[in-house]
Amino acid sequence: MSTLAILGGEPVRRRPFTPWPQYGEADIERLLRTVRSRRWGGYPYPTPLAQEFCARFADMQGVRYALPVANGTVSLTAALMAAGVRFGDEVIVPAYTWDGTATAVLAMGGVPVFADVDPDTYCLDVSSARACITPRTKAVIPVHLAMRFADMDALMQLAADHGLKVIEDCAHAHGGAWKGRGAGSIGDIGSFSLQESKLMTSGEGGLLTTNSLAHYEALQTLINCGRASLTDQYGQRMLGLNYRMTDLQAALLFGQLERLPELRERRARRAALLEKLIGGLPGIRLLPAQPEMTSPTMYCYVFQYRPEPGRPAPHRDLFVAAIEAEGVPCDGRFYEAVYRSDLFHATPENCAQLQHDYSSCRCPVAEHAAYEEAVWLFQFCFIGEEDDIRDVARAIEKVATHLETLAAADPALAGVKAMGRAQRARHERQKNY
Ligand SMILES: Cc1ncc(COP(=O)(O)O)c(C=O)c1O
Repeated sequence: MSTLAILGGEPVRRRPFTPWPQYGEADIERLLRTVRSRRWGGYPYPTPLAQEFCARFADMQGVRYALPVANGTVSLTAALMAAGVRFGDEVIVPAYTWDGTATAVLAMGGVPVFADVDPDTYCLDVSSARACITPRTKAVIPVHLAMRFADMDALMQLAADHGLKVIEDCAHAHGGAWKGRGAGSIGDIGSFSLQESKLMTSGEGGLLTTNSLAHYEALQTLINCGRASLTDQYGQRMLGLNYRMTDLQAALLFGQLERLPELRERRARRAALLEKLIGGLPGIRLLPAQPEMTSPTMYCYVFQYRPEPGRPAPHRDLFVAAIEAEGVPCDGRFYEAVYRSDLFHATPENCAQLQHDYSSCRCPVAEHAAYEEAVWLFQFCFIGEEDDIRDVARAIEKVATHLETLAAADPALAGVKAMGRAQRARHERQKNY
């Protein structure tokens, strides 16, 4: 094959992929109707528009209640409060996730305790979570990461054995199901993000789900400045903030929900094609299938970079940069091990509940995924035509069959390895996929 693009050759692809987010005329009309209605905000809470959307969303996830919120970070904080997490309580979180899963715990006065992740799913490793339990543990937050579910059977058993609340972070799992049960319907409370990159989006936004009327009422109080919930059967009064979603956000979500099943199905088909094309390539390991995931969901497609031991191969970050140079958007350090992340400013000085910092924390699987192994491809590459996937596969194959060349060129490209998140954000903004 020809010279790698990162070494000056012709890239596999110059065309952009399908733009994201998707919208249509109906979305514009709904938005205009909302503008003309002069009901832009989220009060009285939940608004009739948001309630209509939430009923549909709850139906899709197979859960009794859903509530709208401003984003998927405050949804986690409200869930933690409703679950009874108070100052100094410990909450087990996976070390490999978006920082917000853990910072939400700190914001509520809790102490995030990092458990390692499973090397085959990159989701919370339940045996590692078990080892983190102390008398102060109050809750656990499994994250259904990228395209896999945390092992909810083992986790619910662990939670039952130790009296822990389970908050599912479903920021990546809209429409997904584990053994026929929708994400966000299995634990005590589910939290979804609707931020712009997510599978459904209103620009920013979030959703909470629960089967418990008591939690449903508590969450409304917490989201709506301490006001009573619609039903108020439990008479709960809590210190609430304004976490409300606006109707301008809600108006965008109907179209997102309508589009989701077709897009989900398409992503699954395209992912299957990609696996067929790249499955046997050198240095590439696919995540094993997860039969318990009865309704697949894919926020990003993730595979593992595992070059053959003893043979020269570049670092994962250079491997990723070489794929990007071929015209396929791709990321390696998509997430960090949270306790090592430059966004995780958690010290006893910043957070009064902490008695120590996280400098001695070690979760080897999470660190290996974050800094050596995981390769993330973006979902919008999977919603176009089959030819897009053939290009993705060609780019990966081109790089995977040139590992030794790339390793030899490594010193000249060493700067790529050091690309931190801020630098990457700038780099992303300059790109035009
Ligand atoms: C796993 C996970 N949890 C929580 C969040 C927070 O959601 P938001 O960005 O809507 O606040 C995100 C979004 O980036 C996420 O990916």
